[in-house]
Amino acid sequence: MNILLLGKNGQVGWELQRALAPLGTVVAHGSDKAHFTQPDQVAALVRAVRPDVIVNAAAHTAVDKAESEPEVARLLNATTPAAIAREAAQLGALLVHYSTDYVFDGSGTAPRTEADPTGPLSVYGQTKLEGEQAIAASGCDHAIFRTSWVYAARGGNFAKTMLRLAGEREALNVIHDQIGAPTGADLLADVTAHAIRARLTGLYHLVASGETSWFDYARFVIEWARAQGQPIKVAPEAIQPIPTTAYPTPARRPLNSRLSTAKLQQALGITLPHWQQGVQRMLIEIAGK
Ligand SMILES: NC(=O)c1ccc[n+]([C@@H]2O[C@H](COP(=O)([O-])OP(=O)(O)OC[C@H]3O[C@@H](n4cnc5c(N)ncnc54)[C@H](OP(=O)(O)O)[C@@H]3O)[C@@H](O)[C@H]2O)c1
Repeated sequence: MNILLLGKNGQVGWELQRALAPLGTVVAHGSDKAHFTQPDQVAALVRAVRPDVIVNAAAHTAVDKAESEPEVARLLNATTPAAIAREAAQLGALLVHYSTDYVFDGSGTAPRTEADPTGPLSVYGQTKLEGEQAIAASGCDHAIFRTSWVYAARGGNFAKTMLRLAGEREALNVIHDQIGAPTGADLLADVTAHAIRARLTGLYHLVASGETSWFDYARFVIEWARAQGQPIKVAPEAIQPIPTTAYPTPARRPLNSRLSTAKLQQALGITLPHWQQGVQRMLIEIAGK
């Protein structure tokens, strides 16, 4: 099997390099060779490689920055994925792509299913939705995985930021009213490999099981580090919950990021692990560095 991986240097792309390797020959590119502001060039690259499977992990993921550069966000999240999808349709290749909980408006408390109406609140969410729609309209075989709150041991992430701040500050305020599931890039990559082997197609929600708020996520990470004897300055009671309204950002974020994964678990016959399991692995990994 010939696989073309785009966005190889991102959180998910890096883990995909590992997870896709046993499936066949992987040609992997970053933005140096496949720049998503150039849809024609990326399409030409796809034609040149003639892959059986294309996995696109590249995206404009800077959610707040996207508000001030919607054209760039649209190119990366919708226009270029659409061009890749057209090539995939021509080649008969399977296109695997990732999307986000930010396609929803975050109202209510129920986990969203794939059949639920969308309603993005931000440029990022809107352009990611347009990407999904363009891929579906292209007629290519495709699998789209909507995920949320992605972290990886490599690079920066929320947990690392919280650990750093907890070591420097005596008080910390963390948002308590956005609810979702932190999801490891390694889990996304491993499930992607299962999906490719099963030639799975369609739209699926793919997140770790369980749910939390950023506040409880921060507490989990900080208390784990404290228990390990790491230098933590902030006292447990000095970690305070704040509402989203107290921390204004350029992009609006959904309060309810719960995604139902029943469809995917059933389709692949897999069990998605609890978010704490993956986060704890990541904490052990970064503590050892
Ligand atoms: N991060 C999250 O919390 C989150 C949540 C929900 C869904 N997702 C989705 O999951 C997927 C993977 O996200 P991630 O967290 O792995 O993202 P990430 O770590 O931010 O990586 C983004 C990737 O996009 C590439 N990229 C950025 N600008 C580019 C350009 N102009 N041309 C080509 N490539 C460009 C980067 O390539 P270079 O490094 O080579 O420049 C990098 O590989 C994306 O579809 C994202 O929308 C992420």
